[in-house]
Amino acid sequence: MLSSRVRETARWPWVAALVLLLAATQVSAAGPGGPLSRMYNGLAVTPPMGWNDYNAYGLDVTETLVEQTADAMVASGLRDAGYVYVTIDDAWMADTRDADGNLRADPTRFPHGIAPLAGYVHARNLKLGIYEDAGATTCGGKPGSLGHERQDAARFAAWGVDYLKYDNCYAGPGCAQHDCTGGIELSDTARYATMRDALLRTGRPIVFSICSWGTGGVWRWGAGYGNLWRTTGDILPTYASMLANFHETVGLGRYAGPGGWNDPDMLETGNGMTLDEDRTEFSLWAALAAPLIVGADLVHASPGTRSVLTNAAVVAVDQDALGRPAREVSAAGGLDVLARPLAGGDVAVVLFNETEAPATIATSAAAAGLPGASRYTLRDLWAGTTASTAGAIEATVPPHGVMMYRVSGA
Ligand code: GLA
Repeated sequence: MLSSRVRETARWPWVAALVLLLAATQVSAAGPGGPLSRMYNGLAVTPPMGWNDYNAYGLDVTETLVEQTADAMVASGLRDAGYVYVTIDDAWMADTRDADGNLRADPTRFPHGIAPLAGYVHARNLKLGIYEDAGATTCGGKPGSLGHERQDAARFAAWGVDYLKYDNCYAGPGCAQHDCTGGIELSDTARYATMRDALLRTGRPIVFSICSWGTGGVWRWGAGYGNLWRTTGDILPTYASMLANFHETVGLGRYAGPGGWNDPDMLETGNGMTLDEDRTEFSLWAALAAPLIVGADLVHASPGTRSVLTNAAVVAVDQDALGRPAREVSAAGGLDVLARPLAGGDVAVVLFNETEAPATIATSAAAAGLPGASRYTLRDLWAGTTASTAGAIEATVPPHGVMMYRVSGA
């Protein structure tokens, strides 16, 4: 069975034409670079889901890897679980533009170019993402989009790109002092709005991922400029790094919602943490309504990794239609309780033990925001079991682990 996201593709031409027409009206009304509405391009109604090569492969990305990963996403059920964006990160491009200033793919890594790769991905009911940078140079030293925004956006649209991750190296106020010699010091909003507007001009629905690492409090202005924005620096495949990104993001829930999401960076699930830690990351990201962009080698992923990523009950929390991230009900001594309200009145509750020893964590249905009832149903989203409670929600949680429940009133 195809996921609803895949089925959505069939409706796109009409919906997209209408939304993008409205967006073009917004751009002209707000003037170039101005703020638009949160749903400005009609995309990312729920947090985007997909895969990106960077966490597992760094700058070593090739056409073959992307094709093999797309095939693996179909065969392993990830696509049907909702992971549709297959994104090529940095270093896909040749070292120089062509004589007309056009970007071109690295001829060794992508011998057939990007358009056939988009065709390959689309033929499997997946979508193609690509990477660029708001400065003159990408983080990996390739040509950036500064001064070429319209030309590059048009190129991406012509190739059939559906998602752009737009990085922040060698860009921004003050950069001429250190790392962007000769660069133009555009403000945060100006450089991201320039590419946002260039993408809108193409008329193609392209999700816009702002990758400015949380600088300048991007969460305060990101909605209406992009569909997701990084809240942190780069994640690493360690519990400590994942924990830091969680802490930096958990207080920012009020800025996220349909059309624009906090992005604590791509998942490290499957990249070397323990199975408990992988489940913890996945549960926390779902509670935060974070984009679920897999960063693992999916061609060789273990059954354990696949089962974490395809836990439909946890994915459903991430993708919940209400679009409201969790709030911290309590956080003391490394023991955290998160509650995320869901469409229809259920609440997702995460009990997270950050510490090195097993610990009992307790809360209640009332503290989690459920209305009064004589009994509540607790569905354990990792064990798949159901229990009933008069209101207490309590468990012994392993070190670095979570319990995650979906709680309903009777
Ligand atoms: C930055 C980004 C990463 C990745 C690399 C690629 O560090 O934050 O996610 O895209 O650049 O060079």
